[in-house]
Amino acid sequence: MTGRRKLAVGNWKMHGTRDSLGEIDALMQAHPAPRARIVLCLPATLLHAASIHAAPSSVWLGGQDCHAGIKGAHTGDISAGMLRDAGAGYVILGHSERRENHGETSEEVRAKARTAQAEGLVTIICVGESLAQREAANTLDIIGAQMDLSVPDTSTPENLIVAYEPIWAIGTGRIPSFEQIVEVHDFLRKDLAERFGDKVASGISLLYGGSVKPDNAATIFAAENVDGALVGGASLREADFTPIIHALESTVLPGDITG
Ligand code: PGA
Repeated sequence: MTGRRKLAVGNWKMHGTRDSLGEIDALMQAHPAPRARIVLCLPATLLHAASIHAAPSSVWLGGQDCHAGIKGAHTGDISAGMLRDAGAGYVILGHSERRENHGETSEEVRAKARTAQAEGLVTIICVGESLAQREAANTLDIIGAQMDLSVPDTSTPENLIVAYEPIWAIGTGRIPSFEQIVEVHDFLRKDLAERFGDKVASGISLLYGGSVKPDNAATIFAAENVDGALVGGASLREADFTPIIHALESTVLPGDITG
């Protein structure tokens, strides 16, 4: 038993219009009572419609980013409270595509996370190294620094999930070796324990993300400190996501948090 919740989180990125809501129906039909939590982090434009579609639902919803402020003159931005109002319970923060494309720093990620947690969202904070950093054997230093700066002190097992996403594995079809995944996830657990204590750290779910597919999911989920996946491309279609969810559900043990 891990005592933690297992999560299959889909990240639709900038994909999907209302035509895509049928995939959510299909997902709910395929998983009426999932033992792992299924979360779809949708484009913000789809959240409200999806929340109507999905209710009452086996599928939880999330956003992909939010502003650090509660409200104000921030054209084009979305607040955590707005995401919650539209039906989200989760938000991805610090995804490498936002760190790269929008220059988001870890300090900004922490400020966003603090606000999102205060607004009642579960924050999925992403960390991960580039290929150059991995090749220079800097992976754990980079991830340690990202953790220190990105994770707010207000984090608890109820409001924090950490996703390890090696940048070079996202959308490439390449994944780290099993040993590399184990090494980083064990490091993350230890890092959280040093900061928050063993009890809190042992309750925080850790996800792996980057080219998770139906044919590699079971291997990835065999790592003790991998509690689920953050899935991009393979979450867009129910037919691809379902085998990943099944692989995760088969790792749920008595004593783990389900539902
Ligand atoms: P991918 O994306 O599964 O398409 O590699 C994962 C992610 O960016 O969260």
